[in-house]
Amino acid sequence: MKICIILWTRPEILKLYGIMKECQSRWLDYYVIHTGQHYSDNMSKDFFEELWLPRENYNLMAKCSDRIERMWEIQRWLQTIWKQDQPNIVIVQWDTDSAFVGWLTAKMMWIKVAHIEAWIRSNSDIPEEYNRRMIDQFSDYLFVPTEKDMKNILYTSLSELYIVWNTICDTIRDFKPKGVMLWGYVFMTLHRNTNVDSEINLRNIIQQVKWLWKKIIFSCHPRTMKMIESFEIDMWEIVIVPPMTYQETIWHIYNADYIITDSWGIQEECCILRKKCIIMRDSTERPYKGSILWKWDLKEAEDNIKNVNIWKQNPFNPNNSMNISSEILNLIV
Ligand code: UD1
Repeated sequence: MKICIILWTRPEILKLYGIMKECQSRWLDYYVIHTGQHYSDNMSKDFFEELWLPRENYNLMAKCSDRIERMWEIQRWLQTIWKQDQPNIVIVQWDTDSAFVGWLTAKMMWIKVAHIEAWIRSNSDIPEEYNRRMIDQFSDYLFVPTEKDMKNILYTSLSELYIVWNTICDTIRDFKPKGVMLWGYVFMTLHRNTNVDSEINLRNIIQQVKWLWKKIIFSCHPRTMKMIESFEIDMWEIVIVPPMTYQETIWHIYNADYIITDSWGIQEECCILRKKCIIMRDSTERPYKGSILWKWDLKEAEDNIKNVNIWKQNPFNPNNSMNISSEILNLIV
């Protein structure tokens, strides 16, 4: 059984960490294809070093700025690689363009696909939602995070379906910080294009964050930094830092009073670490207890989140499993 893992973004590396580690420790025949769109090391390469993972076997360096061209480029490369080194199964993670092209090319070449984080929906008009819907319809194995997400399922007669919770639990298990310091600050991340590409929206968010009168530590995505500079937004009063390592990020999530984020991955980590989180989006695929949507009024969201009792409500790891990646591999190998 030969396995091929496809990844690209920061969260894909972090969430597929457990699968890669497990493949290594079982001496499975596997290889990793990085489609290579990230420009900076702190969004990609550095995580392999930090998590003690061997580097990818192929890096496609698909950096073309046109989305369709880039997808064609990735598809051509995948086809070439798989013609020479055909896997029995391709593993893709959630909804990126790489996951979509990986799924499509594999299906066209009659290779099986396992989709991790299947059937999550935000029902919003974003490219990722289209990718998710396509991949879910015709994958051979679907690994759905929670029972809640099962309600989204419409038709899957071709697939084997399992509820497994989220592979990020495995990464947290290995890199969770010890001890809470409670230093009285808020940890923030922001990168969704709806928040940062529009000058009005970005100015509004930063202004509302300042009005909280809290110490803010802001891990700033390169895309967001670029927009802040081009709109010349005044960031004083906010501690702005470049993308952090995984362990630094988890440490801040663990130690902050609460988290302000539009990151999909951080919402999950807040749930797992039982931290309160204000989601800077209109809708979410992850309506976990302890998180609330901000509805364009941050002060009100802050008041509301004070009343949430995170200890009572959060479903930590419903399957009570300590090795989700291992469970997934048991099902497909
Ligand atoms: C990302 C993608 C999105 C894709 C989705 C699903 C980006 C900008 N977004 O969303 O396009 O559809 O995955 O694959 O690529 N973290 C750090 N250091 C930091 C900040 C965050 O290690 O400074 C970690 C968090 O702990 C978390 C992960 O990165 O594990 C979250 O990644 P993030 O870039 O926030 O992406 P998502 O919103 O999850």
